[in-house]
Amino acid sequence: MRTVYVNGEYLPEDQARVSIFDRGFLMADGVYEVTSVLGGKLIDFAGHSRRLARSLGELDMANPVTMDALLEIHRQLVTLNEIDEGLVYLQITRGAPGDRDFVFPDPASTPSTIVLFTQAKPGLAGDTAAKKGIKVISIEDIRWGRRDIKTVQLLYPSMGKMMAKKAGADDAWLTEDGFITEGTSNNAYIVKDGKIITRALSTDILHGITRAAVLRFAKEAQMEVIERSFTIDEAKTADEAFITSASSFVMPVVEIDGMPLGDGKAGPLALRLREIYLDESRKMAV
Ligand code: PDD
Repeated sequence: MRTVYVNGEYLPEDQARVSIFDRGFLMADGVYEVTSVLGGKLIDFAGHSRRLARSLGELDMANPVTMDALLEIHRQLVTLNEIDEGLVYLQITRGAPGDRDFVFPDPASTPSTIVLFTQAKPGLAGDTAAKKGIKVISIEDIRWGRRDIKTVQLLYPSMGKMMAKKAGADDAWLTEDGFITEGTSNNAYIVKDGKIITRALSTDILHGITRAAVLRFAKEAQMEVIERSFTIDEAKTADEAFITSASSFVMPVVEIDGMPLGDGKAGPLALRLREIYLDESRKMAV
């Protein structure tokens, strides 16, 4: 049985409790982070903790722990649950005021709720899935306008995955005015004539921690990166496409809306970027 962390305590998962009045449960009033673990070490912890602080700040939510304490909790859970390859999930909500009310509770009397747990994913960094690549469909992006804040409001992304599954695909890319914003739980890229194209940062997309690292590594490897919006039609005629996230690293996309990209196989540039990302990230893991 897993050991999880809830509000200062390490507990067996079946003994962990959160109030029914928790605003995360009632109102999706919470933020989260997912950090991957490779070789028992955390990938880009600093990036995830910085984004967490930003998400909390944007929502005027109190941070219940220092970043040093947060690293310690992550490490403890990885050790206690013997995670070699997997993920650490972290969620902070505006707490449980003891009743339902739209007005934010006073943080002095209602502390935030903090929960962390691990997910073992043996083979996460293996290349079987990556060599096969994934198929995506495109669907309308009807999420709220502050997608740069990593909130637990994930109903539409879940629905998007279900629509993809139903269509025989693996995931969905979201479009707004014909332009791709991002994937349901990842950032989206196309490759044309050797150039990597991905939407620029704004409130329209999550500022992926993997995105930042991958773009840095791509530039260091002399690859050309263009940060601009691209349409679904442009994507369908791209040479390659891929996604990035903490749980998929760099994952080739081989089909969009039933149209195979290039020769329908995982793209060489995406596979090379995946290798570089995994190598470099392992070196910097903590
Ligand atoms: N999802 N865009 C969205 C909408 C996301 O939910 C995520 C992450 C990303 C990629 O961000 P990062 O590279 O920092 O993981 C982009 C996580 C993995 C999840 O919800 O499980």
